[in-house]
Amino acid sequence: MGEKMNKYKGKIICVTSAKGGVGKSIFATMLTGVYSYLKKKVLLVDMDLSSGGISVLLNLDKGKTIYNLSDDILNNRFKEHDGYVLHYNDFVDVLPACKDPREGNKIDSKILEQIITIYQNYYDVIVLDTTHTPTNATLLSLDMADNILLLISDNPVDLKNTHNLLTVLESVNKENIKVILNNAYRDEKKYFKRYDIKNYINHNVDYILPNSMYIRDINNYLMEGKILVLNDKLVFKNDSDRELLIKMAKDLIGDSDEK
Ligand SMILES: Nc1ncnc2c1ncn2[C@@H]1O[C@H](COP(=O)(O)OP(=O)(O)OP(=O)(O)O)[C@@H](O)[C@H]1O
Ligand SMILES: [Mg+2]
Repeated sequence: MGEKMNKYKGKIICVTSAKGGVGKSIFATMLTGVYSYLKKKVLLVDMDLSSGGISVLLNLDKGKTIYNLSDDILNNRFKEHDGYVLHYNDFVDVLPACKDPREGNKIDSKILEQIITIYQNYYDVIVLDTTHTPTNATLLSLDMADNILLLISDNPVDLKNTHNLLTVLESVNKENIKVILNNAYRDEKKYFKRYDIKNYINHNVDYILPNSMYIRDINNYLMEGKILVLNDKLVFKNDSDRELLIKMAKDLIGDSDEK
C-alpha cells in the first residue's frame, strides 16, 4: 500500500443536492468520519450559512462561526486560523454556520473564497456541506470543489430537479460531478431502478449508499453528537459498507491503492 503523506493544500469536496432533506448533512459528517478513520486532517465546513446545523448535529455549538471569521478577515483582524474552528477529534475540525440566520446573506463570496483557500493550507480534505438552494455559498462551493457529490433520492420530484440541475451544471462545463443515490436516508421500498434513474437524469449513478446504511434509531445517536461511522456499532460494523465508503473517500481525493 503506497501510503502517501498529503502536504495539505486540501482537496475540496462539495456535498449538494437538488432537493432538501435527502441526507446531505448526515452523509457529509459520515464522509468526514471516514477521512478521520483514514487519518486525514479534515475540515467540515457548514456552507448552509443561514440554516445549517452541522455544529449542532455534532454537539459543537459553542464558539465562533464562519460569520465571525468573515468579519475578522474583512476588518483585518484575522490572525490565527485555529481560533475559528471547533475540534471534534485529532483529525476533524468543524467550521460552523452563522448563529443568526440573517448573517448568512451578509458574507461576500470573495471572503468565502478566501476562507476556503486559507484553510486548504491546513487540511488534507475540506468537506463543504451545502443547502440545495443556489445561494452564493452553494454556487461558490460548486465552483471551488475538486469533486461535487450530488446526492439524489428515489423520489420523482428530486429526479426531475436533479435532471434540471445536471443540465445547468453541464452547460457550464462542470465535469467533476459524482451522483450518489442515497438509499439509506429512509427505510422504504424503492420505486425506481438504477437503470431508470440513469436514463431519467441522463447521468451515471456513480455510487449507491445501500439501505444497510440506514440507521433506524438515528435520533438517539444524533443526540449523542457522534459521527455515525466512528461508532463501531453502526455503519462501519458492516464490512461491505465500510469498504464502499473507504474506497469512495479515497477515490474522491485521488488517493487510491492501485498504481
Ligand atoms: N443513514 C441514515 N439513516 C437513517 N436516517 C437518515 C440517514 N441519513 C439521513 N437520515 C434522515 O434524513 C434526515 C435528513 O437528513 P439530513 O439533515 O442529512 O438531510 P439534508 O439533505 O442535509 O437536509 P437539508 O436539505 O435540510 O439540509 C435526517 O434527519 C434523518 O432522519
Ligand atoms: Mg443539511
